[in-house]
Amino acid sequence: MRIAVYPGSFDPITYGHMDVIERSAPLFDRLIVAVFCNPLKEPLFSADERVEMIRESTRHLSNVEVDSSDGLLTDYARRRGAGVIVKGLRAVSDFLFEFQMAMVNKYNAPEIETLFIVTSPQYSYLSSSIVRELGQLGGCLKGFIPPNVEKRVRDKFSAGR
Ligand code: PNS
Repeated sequence: MRIAVYPGSFDPITYGHMDVIERSAPLFDRLIVAVFCNPLKEPLFSADERVEMIRESTRHLSNVEVDSSDGLLTDYARRRGAGVIVKGLRAVSDFLFEFQMAMVNKYNAPEIETLFIVTSPQYSYLSSSIVRELGQLGGCLKGFIPPNVEKRVRDKFSAGR
């Protein structure tokens, strides 16, 4: 069984993340989308909310599972029997950090490979932080995030967080 983990903050999931999920899921028997909690970042959505939004958005993909974790990614991947970590690369600006992460993950778990998927050009500028800022300022989110996620972002900001 070929199992891969696609880790991220997903705060919230965007069409850029969806692009990576939809293109990498067919490469594996199971793709686990794993929401990681970064202790250095204050998230907009709780881990449970992020998991729910990803589940709603990936319902059409039968081999995609959604989970959350904290701690080391490589410990999680080993626990789940995953041999591959999938990462999305939008632009050169992503590369330095992702390269660093891939090296640390390789040091921690030499048997696990990192696979980079280059994001489709129409999503190369898109990020969760741009979505959060647009949401806070009442900007248009159409085409950036799935409709179920758009509703959650709107609700979150209209509730005053
Ligand atoms: O969507 P993001 O914020 O770019 O995702 C970053 C993430 C969650 C993939 C990264 O922070 C991560 O791998 N966190 C788990 C902790 C870990 O293993 N860190 C790497 C070694 S220091």
